[in-house]
Amino acid sequence: MRKKETISSLQGAKGKRKLTMITAYDALFASLFAEEADMILVGDSLNMSFGGKADTLSVTLEQMIYHTGAVCNGAPQTFVVCDMPFGSTNSEEEALANATRVFQQTPADAVKIEGGAERADIVRRLVHNGIAVMGHVGLLPQSVRGEGGYRVKGRDEKSFQKVLEDAAAIEDAGAFSIVIEGVTPELGALVTQELSIPVIGIGAGAQTDGQVLVWSDMLGFFEAFKPKFVKQYLNGARLVKEAVSQYAEEVRQGIFPAEEHCYR
Ligand code: KIV
Repeated sequence: MRKKETISSLQGAKGKRKLTMITAYDALFASLFAEEADMILVGDSLNMSFGGKADTLSVTLEQMIYHTGAVCNGAPQTFVVCDMPFGSTNSEEEALANATRVFQQTPADAVKIEGGAERADIVRRLVHNGIAVMGHVGLLPQSVRGEGGYRVKGRDEKSFQKVLEDAAAIEDAGAFSIVIEGVTPELGALVTQELSIPVIGIGAGAQTDGQVLVWSDMLGFFEAFKPKFVKQYLNGARLVKEAVSQYAEEVRQGIFPAEEHCYR
């Protein structure tokens, strides 16, 4: 069994080995990912791929706590990060109370907070109170309605500078690591070079310190759409449909259950 990562081992990896993070929402899949993933993220993306919703905004803190507990049960030897849901970190007080609940009610190792410089004081407050925080800058899925869509950052000078400033502010506030999403590869590379903490990319090019993907995207289970940055390592949906179709056919034809499935 591999040794569990810690904040210092993750930070020590910068420039030496690439870090892998994958999302999981339940104990079963978390246990399947545990051997290879340095970190598991209980992402609020579960609201879409697990909950069938159009975006991440309606997931609740209670739901995130439930799924984080399940993931920690399935992968007790893996560093687990719980995504703080939309609306749960609007003020320092609220963020501290809600992140404290995550730490009290689950064994998660860290929380993740979406947002840039405007969130730096909130991150600082949590870190000062013993809560490890992973930042999340660039394209912010929780801002999809506020920005009128998923907007890639770094294609223009203004958003390029803003993401650079955001990343620096979140590092300065004490985040142990940062996710950078939906930016040009040049911006992903520059943020990785400027920061001394690990920068984990998703749709941010190949030069970041590590990568994160949503499990149902990378294993081909989520069929609604496939973002450009996703590589499918499995056609999960096809395999599941074929297996279920075979099961249904065998039940209809009386092939299943066979003798070996019967009690004597
Ligand atoms: O919710 C999530 O899965 C995430 C990743 C996209 C980084 O935040």
